[in-house]
Amino acid sequence: MRVLIVKNYSEVSIEAAKIVRDIVKKKPNCVLGLATGSTPLGLYKELIRMHKEKGLDFSQVRTFNLDEYYGLSSSHPQSYRFFMEENLFKGINIKPENTRVPDGSVKIEEVEQYCKEYEELIKQAGGIDLQVLGIGGDGHIAFNEPGSSLGSRTRLVALDEKTIEDNSRFFDRVEDVPRFALSMGVGTILEAREILFLATGEKKAEIVAKALEGPITSMITASALQLHPRVTAILDEEASDALRRVAFYRFAADSEKHVGIKLF
Ligand code: GLP
Repeated sequence: MRVLIVKNYSEVSIEAAKIVRDIVKKKPNCVLGLATGSTPLGLYKELIRMHKEKGLDFSQVRTFNLDEYYGLSSSHPQSYRFFMEENLFKGINIKPENTRVPDGSVKIEEVEQYCKEYEELIKQAGGIDLQVLGIGGDGHIAFNEPGSSLGSRTRLVALDEKTIEDNSRFFDRVEDVPRFALSMGVGTILEAREILFLATGEKKAEIVAKALEGPITSMITASALQLHPRVTAILDEEASDALRRVAFYRFAADSEKHVGIKLF
């Protein structure tokens, strides 16, 4: 795993955007896996800037989002579809039909089939070239809460009490936070060709250390990223604070500049 430690949130966003930009330039019809949450907001801002100022072209790019609250329609201001429209899609020249976010309003009796189809659509698109990920306070990626199988696929999941509490900051009342979500599985995520994992802020330091340097366990689903051959983790100094091998990561990142090759 490449672990890049940079100064602050703004540098995380800029470095992450460079990785996305490089893929979009190399493969104009690439498939991006996208995440929500506060962490990738700066990355999305930077991509919008690259589009507006440098002409970065998204006209052929296709996207799949990781997850969506179950029970929220796409027009709900807290839905992840709404988030993506507001924070990325409306600022770039992506075609609406090329963006996919799981539909949280699908009927319960159709959920299983719907999730299978979501996986099928990813396959038909040729698989995800680059998956952007954040990490939840309980170590989740997408909405794969502790105990999710490391082989899990897109499905309906129940949200952990901690996640509901963490995400209640976006809702008027904690009771308004949906209790369920549709989420890509850990197995789905691990099939992406490359992964860009982002974490910032001191609140994430302990869980980041467990995920990146602790044992692989379904109790911290982000730890499954250790199984993936091409993960770049970009952290700010605060989020890297509990890691044991900071000196090594800094040495490896520095060496990359000399050898000109990414050291995964
Ligand atoms: C939600 C999303 C995750 C995201 C997490 C962290 O739970 N389902 O994909 O990584 O929030 O959010 P934040 O970046 O706001 O800390």
